[in-house]
Amino acid sequence: MDHWTVRGGRKLYGACRVQGSKNASLPILAASVLAGTETELTNVPRLKDIDAALRILRHLGCRAEQEGNDLYIDARGLVRSAVPHALMLEMRSSVIFMGALLARCGEARLSPPGGCQLGKRPIDLHLAALRQLGAEVTEREGEILCRASKLRGTTIRLPFPSVGATENAMLAATAAEGETVIEGAAREPEIRALQDFLNAMGCFVHGAGSGHIVITPRRARSSTEFRIQPDRIAASTLACAAAAAGGELTLLDTESAHFSTVLHFLKQAGCAIMTKQRCVTVRSSGRLRAVGPITTEPYPGFPTDAQPVLMAALLRAEGVTRIRETIFENRFRQVPELRKLGADIAMEGQSAVIRGVERLHGASLTATDLRGGAAMLVAGLAAEGETRVEDEGHIARGYESFDRVLSDLGADVRLN
Ligand code: EPZ
Repeated sequence: MDHWTVRGGRKLYGACRVQGSKNASLPILAASVLAGTETELTNVPRLKDIDAALRILRHLGCRAEQEGNDLYIDARGLVRSAVPHALMLEMRSSVIFMGALLARCGEARLSPPGGCQLGKRPIDLHLAALRQLGAEVTEREGEILCRASKLRGTTIRLPFPSVGATENAMLAATAAEGETVIEGAAREPEIRALQDFLNAMGCFVHGAGSGHIVITPRRARSSTEFRIQPDRIAASTLACAAAAAGGELTLLDTESAHFSTVLHFLKQAGCAIMTKQRCVTVRSSGRLRAVGPITTEPYPGFPTDAQPVLMAALLRAEGVTRIRETIFENRFRQVPELRKLGADIAMEGQSAVIRGVERLHGASLTATDLRGGAAMLVAGLAAEGETRVEDEGHIARGYESFDRVLSDLGADVRLN
């Protein structure tokens, strides 16, 4: 159990480098098994979810080593096409190995994945996409078996732009005979990163970012080097932390276009936002105004992953902010915990209505999920007194050395 302690009331000042993207790294780690080749990645964050992916790779027979933020994978020794249940449960992205293993071995045996409990999170769109490529998929007693003697390129129309289903379809399509087109694909920057990685491997993929992706199979190169892009949700979280606590924070090595919707609302709330090349500076007095309404949407809309942390920043904002969650059924799990700090949040169906309060006070909270846990730390920075967050490891799944990052900026945050 991780015990976080935050003593609020300190402003954040200084500059910090934004970590590499978790959600770009994970599908790329799955993609590294597509062919019997070597992969060298840089800027990979050190996170529990990355460790889980490395354990899957090793179980499959690959060599997988991380040193600092550099990662090396040798997929030449892959000997298995099945991921055990215990490893599947460690994170949601384990499901992306399905498309990759199907492409490499013609078979993948897995079980439904774990990950944050944000709602039902079915994988029907993943399975439908693989079936359209010619895979035979059977689900029996908690096991999913995908088999294909030959995958055939086709047009896959996704009824919803699921990030994971798009990734699985892209990976499986690299081994199909002929061209595959994915219509209605997710447009998230992480999809673009996967496309760039596949192209660096020697595949021919284009269209990512547009919702219309075309994959033409090609023989992979023997080795691939690739740098992981900055994490837009870690950047959003730090920006919200500075907005809530007050101060002036410069995010280095970041891509402001990837989280412009978050910056838009912080600006509306009264923060000064300066962007220059790969840096973003957020200046805040700590007293914000209500914004919105905010609706979470697939990219390029406002990201569901930033909803809890922006909510945390707005708890003391003057006025009423309404946030509607449309991606996950259960992504307001942080709300009952934030109320313990004195926050005034009413739930109306899939919307949260936040009435800004004058002050928040420290309390003992329990992290409910990754971004919900981060939201509790952000709120704690703006609360008077001490906030404790008991966390069974959610926050470390997505934030690298978050205690040190915040402490270096002047926050009083401890992790035991
Ligand atoms: C990715 O999850 C991210 N995870 C999530 O980040 C993020 O919240 C989510 O995309 C939305 O942006 C990774 O990239 C590892 P989806 P994913 O498939 O792929 C429904 C974080 O905090 N759906 O786009 O699981 C689903 O139930 C995490 O870092 C189906 O109905 O998201 C959900 O309501 C959490 N059937 C919606 O689509 C399917 O087959 C979006 O899911 C697949 C999805």
